[in-house]
Amino acid sequence: MNTRRLRRLIHVAIAAGTLGLGAVAIGLFTHVPEMKTQPKLQTHAARMPLPPAGAVTVERPAPVRFPDPADTRPLASGQVYYGYYCLPCHGQTGDGRGPVGESYHPVPRDLRSAAIQARTNKQLLRAIAEGTGHQLENDGPRILHLTVPPQHAGPLIAYVRTLKK
Ligand code: HEC
Repeated sequence: MNTRRLRRLIHVAIAAGTLGLGAVAIGLFTHVPEMKTQPKLQTHAARMPLPPAGAVTVERPAPVRFPDPADTRPLASGQVYYGYYCLPCHGQTGDGRGPVGESYHPVPRDLRSAAIQARTNKQLLRAIAEGTGHQLENDGPRILHLTVPPQHAGPLIAYVRTLKK
């Protein structure tokens, strides 16, 4: 190959390269979508697909089982649950003078009292879930039933009965 042909070849290659780069640049500036024109992911506008007909949720809370009053075995775990969920307010003995309860005026209800002990298991369960004193603030949402899992409630209430004066 003589030098002239080689030079021409180089010139053609440079020209082609320049054209190519120019084309890419034009392509970039005209075809890359701008941020403001991109489709946005509107999660709040997305529609949740409906569950198929007849579907049941698998996370239904387990029904609360109240142990047989003659069975003393659940009381040990009931005492532990009482320590988790109730003792801070209602106190070790149920008198309402727990480390948190002490700061209440009046102090939380005396769980040893005849009035509380006369309630049925279901009434006590309802008092945990909906009772006065168990809301976030005055007339706020009741929250205690979200804390106490249903499988703890039975032994817990059985233990509360042992606090009777
Ligand atoms: C954040 C503090 C707090 C915790 C935790 C708490 N209580 Fe109470 N509880 C109260 C207060 C305050 C009252 C209402 C006192 C009143 O109105 O006389 C109350 C009232 C009650 C009542 C009577 C409710 C009514 O409607 O008559 C029962 C029963 C009771 N509590 C049981 C429990 C049990 C069982 C637990 C544990 C699962 C528990 N509480 C946890 C503060 C608490």
